[in-house]
Amino acid sequence: MTSTPVRIGIIGAGRMGTQHAGFIARDENAVLVGVADPQSDLLSTRSSVPHYRDHHELLEKSDVDAVIIANPNNAHVDTALDCIHAGIPALLEKPVAVTFAEATRLTQAVREKNAVVLVGHHRRHHPAVAAAREIILGGGIGQLVAVNGVWMARKPDDYFEHSWHREKGAGVMLINLVHDLDLMRHMCGEITAVQAVTSNMVRGHEVEDTAAVIVTFASGAVGTFTVSDATVAPWGWDQVTEDDPTFPYRPDTSCYSIAGTEGSLAFPQLKHYYYGGRADWTQPLSARYDPRSIGDSYTNQMAHFISVVRGETAPLVTVEDAAATLALIEAAHNAAETGTLTTITAQESLV
Ligand SMILES: NC(=O)c1ccc[n+]([C@@H]2O[C@H](COP(=O)([O-])OP(=O)(O)OC[C@H]3O[C@@H](n4cnc5c(N)ncnc54)[C@H](O)[C@@H]3O)[C@@H](O)[C@H]2O)c1
Repeated sequence: MTSTPVRIGIIGAGRMGTQHAGFIARDENAVLVGVADPQSDLLSTRSSVPHYRDHHELLEKSDVDAVIIANPNNAHVDTALDCIHAGIPALLEKPVAVTFAEATRLTQAVREKNAVVLVGHHRRHHPAVAAAREIILGGGIGQLVAVNGVWMARKPDDYFEHSWHREKGAGVMLINLVHDLDLMRHMCGEITAVQAVTSNMVRGHEVEDTAAVIVTFASGAVGTFTVSDATVAPWGWDQVTEDDPTFPYRPDTSCYSIAGTEGSLAFPQLKHYYYGGRADWTQPLSARYDPRSIGDSYTNQMAHFISVVRGETAPLVTVEDAAATLALIEAAHNAAETGTLTTITAQESLV
């Protein structure tokens, strides 16, 4: 038996909104029915669907079953609240908000209205993430000790022609590191303290282009993350996965090194290092590739969203969960500004 495709509207038709239209087009269970964007009707014209200048019009005039919100970060909470009040399920792009306080407003509304909101931390839907999570949390590398993560790339200069990409509410931590820390919480457990230094040395914008962040996990493990949108470098999720063909694939590099007392994992290849015999750094390390299923995050996220809208499953990434990730970015900004260790309060963390 075939079901009627879920009718989806897109709010914000820039780079990410346009990509979402592509993800909808390749899923037979979804159909794009309208686009709201105050500045551009390019996507609606190309997709032959109605264009609305304002998302209120999309919510009122079209017969959407669900929406994808991909407008600038500082509009996320108010737009999502409008969808909640209209009773329309939403896939809300990350970051869930620009401050934890704002995210809390949304968390409360979701609870009060029993609303359906999936936050677009798409990487959690990647098959390598599920496999790594099972290995790490299942003790497959022994006790987790240390993690090293990198997201270093060179964004094109015209990316920053959109003024919001240069201003508070954007920056490499809120736009990119937020994905890495979200995955760390998901695969390695909650983070309880953060230290950071940031720099805008290359681009000179109001927001940072580069950051070095140190984290402490609730388990006692530690981690370091280096991120920059101003470097020519091959290390980072976007280059090392085949999620998005916009970015040339580098199968020879990894983005996370995850080390435990019994072994370590290079991610996303799931190259698993271990000793066949005595654990001693003078002995040769053995390595194997651990299994994972095939697929990419965006296709899986769309299938999951459709299932969420149909009431078949609960969101994998809730507003509350995404707010806990956002709290880490806020803590990193605070740590960088004050030069001190910032601990995550119980209210911010899901621990
Ligand atoms: N999941 C990911 O990996 C990923 C990747 C890129 C961007 N994003 C997120 O997607 C969102 C959009 O980023 P982008 O890079 O596409 O930005 P963008 O600037 O290319 O696009 C934003 C679009 O929103 C429109 N807009 C502005 N205000 C609006 C409003 N009130 N209602 C509707 N539309 C409005 C703009 O006209 C523009 O077309 C951001 O939240 C960003 O963090 C997520």
